[in-house]
Amino acid sequence: MRIDVISLFPEFVAQCAAFGVVGRAGERGLLSLHGWNPRDYAEGNYRRVDDRPFGGGPGMVMLIDPLRASLKAAREADPRPARVVYLSPQGAPLTQAKVRELAGQERLVLLCGRYEGVDERLLAADVDEEISIGDYVLSGGELAAAVIVDAVARLQEGALNDADSAEQDSFEPVDPAGDPARVLLDCPHYTRPVSHELGDVPAVLMSGNHAEIARWRRQQALGRTWQRRPDLLDEASLSNADRALLAA
Ligand code: ADE
Repeated sequence: MRIDVISLFPEFVAQCAAFGVVGRAGERGLLSLHGWNPRDYAEGNYRRVDDRPFGGGPGMVMLIDPLRASLKAAREADPRPARVVYLSPQGAPLTQAKVRELAGQERLVLLCGRYEGVDERLLAADVDEEISIGDYVLSGGELAAAVIVDAVARLQEGALNDADSAEQDSFEPVDPAGDPARVLLDCPHYTRPVSHELGDVPAVLMSGNHAEIARWRRQQALGRTWQRRPDLLDEASLSNADRALLAA
């Protein structure tokens, strides 16, 4: 998969993608990341990338042309069609279902705004979708772009060493055949030592009984979701086995 990042600070996103699973996905050739700086496409001695908003008010708005030229350069760098995503608090909330969808694209272009944002005409003409990573305001889209790069990179086939670990994550579907937006939080995890002054590892995890362990994990995941994020649990989408585990 190829991801192009259009940003006044493209190195920032590249740095975020240089470590751990995401860095390894790059080394394994599963992900290639390319940065484009609108300032390189800006005109004049000052290489202006922003201007004051019409109608007045605080802050600056990013100019259409340097962004458009960056986008054109990014598109022309690879013949495959690209999905263009603008990161902003006005976007649709990012979910794991959306991450899975983006991870299946051959090419993504992530457009990062700064200041008050980007001229609306560019968004209308060139952007396929707008995504928010949460109901708070960042000083630019770069951290949100890094979040998307990370979340999609780890879903590329071969990025994780243990093929199972993506499927057992928090936020994978409650019922794989059901609504992909319905998800469950992860169960707790333990490692050595078995006994510690902070407590013992639950005995079932050392029983060697894989069916019992799977049952316990599912029960923990259901219980945590019920307690911490009841908004994620829709009773109707639970199987009878899950209902029994929750009641136990
Ligand atoms: N840019 C600024 N705030 C943001 C947010 N919450 N999500 C995505 N992009 C942003």
